[in-house]
Amino acid sequence: MPSSSQHKATVTAPSNIAFIKYWGARNLKRAVPVNRSISMTLRTCVSRCTAAWLPDRGKHVIELRNARGVLAPAPPAFAERIRSHLNFLRRWAGVGGHFHIATENSFPAAAGIASSASGFAALTLAVVTALDRRLSLEELSSLARLSGSGSAARSVAGGFVEWPVGFSDDACHARVLAPAKHWPLANVIAVVSSGPKGTSSLDGHRRARTSPYFRTRQRRLPARLEAVREAIAGRDFEQLGTVIEAEAVDLHCIAMTSVPPIFYWQPATLVVLETVRALRAEGVPAYATMDAGPNVHVICLPRVEKLIAERLAALPQVETVIRDRIGDGPAIETRHLF
Ligand code: DP6
Repeated sequence: MPSSSQHKATVTAPSNIAFIKYWGARNLKRAVPVNRSISMTLRTCVSRCTAAWLPDRGKHVIELRNARGVLAPAPPAFAERIRSHLNFLRRWAGVGGHFHIATENSFPAAAGIASSASGFAALTLAVVTALDRRLSLEELSSLARLSGSGSAARSVAGGFVEWPVGFSDDACHARVLAPAKHWPLANVIAVVSSGPKGTSSLDGHRRARTSPYFRTRQRRLPARLEAVREAIAGRDFEQLGTVIEAEAVDLHCIAMTSVPPIFYWQPATLVVLETVRALRAEGVPAYATMDAGPNVHVICLPRVEKLIAERLAALPQVETVIRDRIGDGPAIETRHLF
């Protein structure tokens, strides 16, 4: 990784979509999951973050690009999560001083498109680079995870990513299963609601074990993980799609049967799911998955991406369609946000 100029660095880090989900934690504060997850790193849905280390400054400055395109002080809850990660990174690095952080997203935040994953991966990498530290992928993944956003541990790498490799704090990092060029899949995202979701993933993890289906899913996971690894290795789209759609429905069954229940789906979510099934019946290979939100990620081969995007955009229940692809992971930028 290149070194920073004058303790300032800018990084772009992508979001990712989980094929096998992280849902339920052994240690929620340190984001140590109950089960392994596998994701595909995206290319278009990214967070860009500039970090400047100011050894003599008295407090952190945290800015976010707002809807009017202006960098403004970040909302208090968001700023607090970032401040707490900055304080952790400062202790880890053994430095004093403070940071100036500016961040922007290429997509609506908190709408089930994992803005925390890309945001905390970008923040971690930008800070580490601004401090002139050189880290392995494993170390970066662990540091990003300790932001509390477990999925950020997968966003530091490109292609198909599995996390964790082990469940001890030391081994709780991601590894690349295959690079993006191995299988250039597309992800058409049907945004049915771009507002913030009602229940955070953090609360979802907390409640997961209260669902009677939690253990059932855990028992199914080893076979499911193996089926996804095998489908990726052999580029078997039908095998991949069948497993990831069932996995997404299981996650939402657990959410809906947790105490108290969480309903991330909206009527529009079901309309999109129905459309994906109709497309399949017409011979179009497409499978759906959803994170902790109402939006639907339709995984497909690039040759049918445009057709799927047009069909989804024509649904009155769909606000916008984002066309994304598998991507190569974070990149260091030369242009800073401030
Ligand atoms: C359903 O605790 O990583 O997306 O920090 O909000 O991104 P955020 O959530 P996190 O849980 C992710 C939950 C999930 C599944 C997944 O991405 O594995």
